[in-house]
Amino acid sequence: MPGSEAVKSNKPEFWDIDQDVDDNKSFILKPPEPELVMDYEVEARNYAKAGKASTDIKLTLKKLGVDPVILRKAAIACYEAEINVVAHSKGGKIFAYIYDDRVLIKLVDDGPGIKNIDQAMLPGFSTADELAREMGFGAGLGLPNIKKNCDAMYITSSLGSNTILAFIIFFTPPES
Ligand SMILES: Nc1ncnc2c1ncn2[C@@H]1O[C@H](COP(=O)(O)OP(=O)(O)O)[C@@H](O)[C@H]1O
Ligand SMILES: [Mg+2]
Repeated sequence: MPGSEAVKSNKPEFWDIDQDVDDNKSFILKPPEPELVMDYEVEARNYAKAGKASTDIKLTLKKLGVDPVILRKAAIACYEAEINVVAHSKGGKIFAYIYDDRVLIKLVDDGPGIKNIDQAMLPGFSTADELAREMGFGAGLGLPNIKKNCDAMYITSSLGSNTILAFIIFFTPPES
């Protein structure tokens, strides 16, 4: 499956997973064959194109009849994740793996990586450059927002290396 080989690493990791949903970790690390795969290139600093992949993923989920509340969560999380690749990385790819009960979104970029993932997860922490701030980004709320809007989340990264972010959104939330 495209991109799945890149997920395993010995780099620092951040997980936000519900232990009750025991297979989320293995689902992220070794995704089963999806019903549908989409993939998009994300260009560094291309703010004109930023958000296009997220919009396309959202429209695809909408066509598949995904609940509007879930759709909104997916759109927010995808958008924040895409903007991060545009604003902070040298460019990368977004993969959307769609299943009948969930979507797994994975972003793999070309570096430069995150120095301290726990710090990056803190609301308000940002290393956004001037251009990103001029474009209205850099509030340091992207990663916390992704965490809030998904059901399982994984990041692995270190400085000088690439960043991999993956998250799952269930079409029927586990808690309902
Ligand atoms: N793909 C990435 N590559 C490198 N650094 C990243 C990436 N995504 C996030 N970061 C780091 O994590 C920080 C926090 O991200 P986020 O919460 O989205 O806030 P913001 O994008 O507003 O800075 C960023 O400022 C950046 O330092
Ligand atoms: Mg961000």
